[in-house]
Amino acid sequence: MLSPESVLAPLVSAAIEQAFGPELRGTDPVLRPSQYADVQVNAALALAKRLGLPPREVAARIVEHLEVGGICDDVEISGPGFLNLTLGDDWIGAQATALAADPRLGVPVEEAQVVPIDYSAPNVAKEMHVGHLRTTVVGDALARTLEHLGHHVVRQNHIGDWGTPFGMLIEHLLDVGEDSPAAALVETDPNAFYQAARAEFEGDEGFATRARARVVALQSGDEATLVVWRRLVARSQNYFNTIYRRLGVTLTDADLAGESTYDHDLAAVCAELVEAGIAVESDGALCVFLDGYTGREGKPLPLIVRKSDGGYGYATTDLATVRHRVRTLHADRMLYVIGAPQSLHLEMVWATARLAGWLPDDVEVVHVKIGNVLGDDRKILRTRSGAPLRLMSLLDEAVAAARGVLDEQQPPLDEATREVVAPQVAMAAVKYADLSVAHDSEYVFDLARMVAPTGNTGPYIQYAAARLHSIFRTAGLSPAEATAPLRADSPAERALCLALLEHGNVVTAVGLTLEPHRLCAYLFDLAQAFSQFYEHCPVLKAPDEETRDARLALCAATLRVMVSGLDLLGIESPERM
Ligand code: ARG
Repeated sequence: MLSPESVLAPLVSAAIEQAFGPELRGTDPVLRPSQYADVQVNAALALAKRLGLPPREVAARIVEHLEVGGICDDVEISGPGFLNLTLGDDWIGAQATALAADPRLGVPVEEAQVVPIDYSAPNVAKEMHVGHLRTTVVGDALARTLEHLGHHVVRQNHIGDWGTPFGMLIEHLLDVGEDSPAAALVETDPNAFYQAARAEFEGDEGFATRARARVVALQSGDEATLVVWRRLVARSQNYFNTIYRRLGVTLTDADLAGESTYDHDLAAVCAELVEAGIAVESDGALCVFLDGYTGREGKPLPLIVRKSDGGYGYATTDLATVRHRVRTLHADRMLYVIGAPQSLHLEMVWATARLAGWLPDDVEVVHVKIGNVLGDDRKILRTRSGAPLRLMSLLDEAVAAARGVLDEQQPPLDEATREVVAPQVAMAAVKYADLSVAHDSEYVFDLARMVAPTGNTGPYIQYAAARLHSIFRTAGLSPAEATAPLRADSPAERALCLALLEHGNVVTAVGLTLEPHRLCAYLFDLAQAFSQFYEHCPVLKAPDEETRDARLALCAATLRVMVSGLDLLGIESPERM
């Protein structure tokens, strides 16, 4: 462990034990960032009450036993009994040097768990809305981060590819002709296709009858129907994949585990629930009534697992996902990256799965709640005309906005570079804006702010990385060649080294809390620390060669941590901007 906190915490704990006896083994040393030093120890205050001693005396006895020679330059008791620890510059430089030499840049490898992550999950022949954008981006950042921490991530893209609307969609596809421009809409403007099918269903009784018969044919495995259905799904996949590729999302066709894949499990799910006495018939439907779940007027709220017409719904399919992920995928920890409003649904599904024995206590299951994306009017983001937003055009707008920012730059980049960099900046802007807000809170989608090269934005961090690249271009050196020991001599170098030392803790914390915004905040702080350094510490014009080499090595380490962190967020780092 390289961060000051992880090095100091066990030493302070040991001092407490030495001073006050073995019954205090494992006492939390309560380390906090300090205003006056590098680290503040607050343990003495809590211990004083417990020991019946004045806090300053407790602090003094801890100091007596504290062995931080070679680490801290100064240990001071202050105020009512805080300890202020000031780290030695040499120690900081040595720790930062160790980080720079570590291929993992201070990020520990955790004991591997199997972690299925349910994310993205758009619906076939429907537009992906901004909610899907968000679960896609957050889910992908979590998948990348957990993989980096050593876990076996199993991506599960639970697309909506089954159910009653498919009768109408298939009939419509056959009516317009599979090779017609109207059919091609599935890949370019899926909502237009869906709406056209819907209009026929509502306006044409004959069509509606055919559509209903088609659902029955689909559900009963009619091969001719399945062939058309597969082609429809494949066209939608092309649409999703275009979006995923543009966004740099790691999902592939191999990760598809749509609703249809559980179809053959649903009867068994219901049968097992009946057999275990968990599901009961109620008004012709098969329902699970769970303790503590009541609806309006205190009436018990059912989880409907089979409708009165014999059909299965969303709840049944999700019960099957739990069963499959535990039984077949051997999940240790399961994440459902899904809209916050679906939390009641998930809770009831999990409670039922627990009763049925499908979800053992040692398997952790987490709803990573996704908050809404809002427009200027603070309502769910839509187009100006109120129509649902086309994600593809939203991405186009982002590229145009990023292009505008690049065009304004002085000196301007050459045309070919701008062409390549604009989409990289645009996706960074959109993804960072999404990831830097706690995933369960709302945010206002504001392209102008997102693409800005200043402020807490993705492009700001990309610029910092590009500036680092340009230092090495000017030096005629590759960052890998800058391997001198790092030094923390001046305040700006010291602060940048300290920022680097937090890297491992931050990535670990993201894996634990499933909060990518912590990594965003860290990278923003790191970019700011770099910009302070860049302002105060000449690198190529350093006063002597040793300083220049140390600063180049510091730049190289900063660049690698930045690029690696952006990569965990799914954001590219252009070398020139
Ligand atoms: N397809 C659903 C929607 O668009 C989301 C599915 C989320 N995943 C799940 N296992 N329920 O709202």
